[in-house]
Amino acid sequence: MTPDGFPVVGIVGGGQLARMMIQAAIPLGIHIRLLSERADDSAARVCTEVVIGSPDSIDDLVNFAAGCDAVTLDHELVNLDALERIEAAGGVVRPGPFTLAFAKDKAHQRREFAAAGLPVPEFAEVTTAEEIEAFASRLGGWPVVVKAQRGGYDGRGVWVVDSPEGADELAAEAAERGVALITERFVRIKNELAVLVARRPGGQMVVYPVVETVQRDGICHEVLAPAPVPPDVVERALAIGLRVADLTCATGIVATELFWSEGDEVLINEIATRPHNSGHFSIDGAQTSQFANHLRGVLDWPLGDTSLLAPAVVMANLLGADSESLAPRMAAALRQPAPGVHPHLYGKGVRPGRKLGHVNALGDDPVETRERAVRAAAVLTGRAE
Ligand SMILES: Nc1ncnc2c1ncn2[C@@H]1O[C@H](COP(=O)(O)OP(=O)(O)OP(=O)(O)O)[C@@H](O)[C@H]1O
Ligand SMILES: [Mg+2]
Repeated sequence: MTPDGFPVVGIVGGGQLARMMIQAAIPLGIHIRLLSERADDSAARVCTEVVIGSPDSIDDLVNFAAGCDAVTLDHELVNLDALERIEAAGGVVRPGPFTLAFAKDKAHQRREFAAAGLPVPEFAEVTTAEEIEAFASRLGGWPVVVKAQRGGYDGRGVWVVDSPEGADELAAEAAERGVALITERFVRIKNELAVLVARRPGGQMVVYPVVETVQRDGICHEVLAPAPVPPDVVERALAIGLRVADLTCATGIVATELFWSEGDEVLINEIATRPHNSGHFSIDGAQTSQFANHLRGVLDWPLGDTSLLAPAVVMANLLGADSESLAPRMAAALRQPAPGVHPHLYGKGVRPGRKLGHVNALGDDPVETRERAVRAAAVLTGRAE
């Protein structure tokens, strides 16, 4: 606790999610202590109390947690044994190791959700090319999707395999690198959706409007709120999101990525047990941002209203195009028709394809709002004048 009685929340990981949690903490009086690997990480650049250390090191995590009222995370690549040690010593980790195990391991997640009767694509844990081939023939042929069980992000760790040769190559490389795999049905996707729930430790929940996530090459480019899908699809998505939050004993935000398939199924792709790219729209576009609701959930404070502030809210990611800074283009990007756009930069160096920030736009018309957000993002990243 701070001398004036406000809570100290420790965040493990110095990425943009931690940075945006810090922004949300300020008006609530929450003091943030950050465990970051480098002093120039996105969140470390804007935090007043930074501890340099590794999310893999038990010592670093245990020392970091001492004196925090609660510890939360900006990514799931963290040593779960250390989190158990922190809890055993009376510390508070939210979400806890039970919840994080879902996010950390796609095989565990698929197994548990399938056992609970939640809709997931058919899947199998595999190690050899023969097992991948057997799975493909069981499902009626190629292609199938193969994924690393752990450690993937932004589509790295996800491969579409369309032949026995492809399976051979992938299985050999995975064996060489010691990467455990799952394979699953290639879903014919109509739309990708996401549903975000904020949950308190006692079980109280709020849910955000279901959104569409527009993905290209495994990377989220835009998020459209509300999702332009029929009401029964929205209902199914909401029900899945709430069940996932309960089943995983989430605290703070849990995001469920979904596929709406050509065959009208709503299937779980994967979950994240923390704020998520699909919820960045909420910073400007909802009564309470996902980052504020994450912190409220972590501290077991009352959760905030999740309703939208406009009929259409759109987020466009800023994906690095070249090696130039975004700075010279900011003024031009802001020159958008009323009601304009809200850029959020992450303070990261520019690399092709890297998420450098995002732009939010609110409006009455989904098409115009999307155009405005996308245009500003294109100008800011140098893809348009
Ligand atoms: N079974 C599938 N069938 C068809 N497409 C898939 C399947 N699984 C994944 N994809 C595509 O690949 C993308 C990335 O997959 P996934 O979300 O599992 O990977 P990730 O690297 O963990 O992603 P993230 O960027 O969300 O961390 C999905 O958004 C989807 O477009
Ligand atoms: Mg994903």
